[in-house]
Amino acid sequence: MLSEKKVQFFFDASATRWSDNYGHTRKMNYRVDQFLNALKSRLRANDAVLDFGCGTGEVTGSIAAAGFAITGCDLSSEMIKKANTKYQSAGLNFLALQEDFLPRLPFLSKKFRAIISSSVFEYLPALDEYFLEMKRLLLDDGYLIFTVPNSKHPIRKIEKILFYLNRYCFFSWLFEQAFQITKRRIDFNYLEISINRFSTNEWLRRLAANGFDMEEISATKTPLLLIVAKNRSTL
Ligand SMILES: C[S@@+](CC[C@H](N)C(=O)[O-])C[C@H]1O[C@@H](n2cnc3c(N)ncnc32)[C@H](O)[C@@H]1O
Repeated sequence: MLSEKKVQFFFDASATRWSDNYGHTRKMNYRVDQFLNALKSRLRANDAVLDFGCGTGEVTGSIAAAGFAITGCDLSSEMIKKANTKYQSAGLNFLALQEDFLPRLPFLSKKFRAIISSSVFEYLPALDEYFLEMKRLLLDDGYLIFTVPNSKHPIRKIEKILFYLNRYCFFSWLFEQAFQITKRRIDFNYLEISINRFSTNEWLRRLAANGFDMEEISATKTPLLLIVAKNRSTL
């Protein structure tokens, strides 16, 4: 069973270079726009938002600049150190989560109008417990907006094959060597921890079972699926 410790270790080690993915013409900039658009069409200025698994804070920073009252938190203290250094002058404060208390998060119930989470849910063991925690933190009718790997995209199908080859094939190291020779980096550690690779229907089934109604799913041709779910009021 995957533990949060292993995930934390992986992302602590990735923290130094993570923000290289953002900025001028970088490959993850589109993540920022996806979340901003989803929030702008649903929330009002100053509404409280949580960025769960904020990494080095690039998505959080852009959402703050758009006028939302956003807080970022992450399991990786190294990611949080980088985020706090980078966005200190913007008045943002990022919180490192303590693994021992997870999935409980250190916020009051019904504190947020929306929770965003960019490429985090695939790493969560006990996923349903996290969904329930998100529900606790959201206002009635609040939004949970997150991205996960799109299992229909060709790149995800290749990753799935590589995952099984790595885990069960005696010659898996040969693949690693072959990729290194072609100078393509293949990260088997990433595949080991990215465990929740569900179909769209399975994500929706789990959301529904934990008290969320699906509101929108992004176009399914990209490697990431954006899901907007609404907290089903318990009243
Ligand atoms: C792929 S990175 C994405 C970072 C950021 N959201 C972005 O899009 O740039 C995944 C992040 O989720 C964080 N994470 C993984 N499991 C977590 C958990 N249980 N609680 C909080 N953060 C978690 C990792 O530490 C890492 O920073």
